[in-house]
Amino acid sequence: MRTLIKNGRVVTATDDYFADVLVDGETIAQIGKDLSSATADQVIDAKDRLVLPGGIDPHTHFDMPFGGTVSADDFETGTLAAAFGGTTTVIDFAIQTKGESTLKGLETWHAKAEGKATIDYAFHMIITDMPYERLPEMRRLRDEGITSYKLFMAYPGVLYVDDGVLYRSFRQAGENGTRICMHAENGIVIDEIIKAAVEDGKVEPKWHALTRPTRMEAEGVHRAIAIAEVARVPLYIVHLSCSDALEEVKRGRARGVDVVAETCPQYLFLDQTIYERDGFEGAKWVMTPALREKWNQDALWQGLKFRDLETIATDHCPFCFKDQKELGKDSFTKIPNGAPGVENRMSLVYDGGVAKGRISLNRFVELTSTAAAKAFGLFPKKGTIAVGSDADIVIFDPERVETISVDNPRTHHMNVDYSAYEGVTVQGFTETVLSRGRVIVRNHKLETKGGGRFVKRAGTGELLR
Ligand code: URP
Ligand code: ZN
Ligand code: ZN
Repeated sequence: MRTLIKNGRVVTATDDYFADVLVDGETIAQIGKDLSSATADQVIDAKDRLVLPGGIDPHTHFDMPFGGTVSADDFETGTLAAAFGGTTTVIDFAIQTKGESTLKGLETWHAKAEGKATIDYAFHMIITDMPYERLPEMRRLRDEGITSYKLFMAYPGVLYVDDGVLYRSFRQAGENGTRICMHAENGIVIDEIIKAAVEDGKVEPKWHALTRPTRMEAEGVHRAIAIAEVARVPLYIVHLSCSDALEEVKRGRARGVDVVAETCPQYLFLDQTIYERDGFEGAKWVMTPALREKWNQDALWQGLKFRDLETIATDHCPFCFKDQKELGKDSFTKIPNGAPGVENRMSLVYDGGVAKGRISLNRFVELTSTAAAKAFGLFPKKGTIAVGSDADIVIFDPERVETISVDNPRTHHMNVDYSAYEGVTVQGFTETVLSRGRVIVRNHKLETKGGGRFVKRAGTGELLR
């Protein structure tokens, strides 16, 4: 199948020009001023539209057992929703069951995704323990295309690992030419604060935020950077939520440590006053790290503009309000942590970033696609528009205004009964989406379901062709 995308404004992380793009099979075959003479099976008119590399969301949790339940989107519904929002690749988190092989964890996640996804996907591996005898597994994972790991300083008794496991895994990851992703929050201290709050009868959803001080996130970031520096491994701080933590990233970078950080739309658009809503409603936004005081948002936007923050991911981890969030009706400690957003990321970032004049169009592409491709061994197969790259392409309408709502059929395909951004009006909206040359969404309508593939990623600093 050959598809000609005509008259569009092609924007990558570095370029911005008007051109036609010819897709042949799964890849981009030609880019030129006027390709009208090229033979094509179909023509897509992209006049007045942006032609962007498909979004890459490097942080999703589909079909994830967590908090006594399982995240509400699986690889079928989650990747479809992502596609509608202009994301064509996700990096999801496979989990090692404590005491078992990481390779077995990988097998489990392959089984969850196989044959279900509409867009391409890759996996990080969550390490929950790493005795010495398992270290060689990390090399085998790399051979399987798993070139990054997530470890947790948070959630004691669940996903938490101690500093010894961190250091051991960091060293091995560094030696293997792979990257560490860090959930940086001092979970041990936070658990003490939580215990005291619960003893005082402070159990409403807002106490989730009030028991997780930003200083404990900053401490985690500081510690992770110090350990990575000594272990010599490139570090990626996930879901950074506040100015305190960002300051630690800046300090580490200033002394030359290879650390980059991700933030998420929830920390740019929402703040902790939302937990004051009536009754149990605040549970919808019980996520970790928690939403912060609003002033942090300006610091995060600055970090994005000046490159101390490298990517914007969603940390999409949806739980229905009914039945799932309600597990914590009697205490915030039992509310499954996480919120939906995989579908809304591109519009939110375009609106808050480009339309509001905070970041350039090139930076928007870099933050939502290219930087993740480079950090996680997907570039230049993914993350750009170039001859030979996968034809993961988004035709994006920079003028279209939509109000995000669980009831808006254009903004909500996620399998969850609420929207974290209910009522937020955004300028900039995905219209048509190609995944490796297949039109999967055309003019906001689903055209092709399925066909997403696992992508084996390259190591740190390597190219993926
Ligand atoms: O609340 C969150 N973020 N849930 C997902 C797990 C994690 O820590 O990323
Ligand atoms: Zn996390
Ligand atoms: Zn997460």
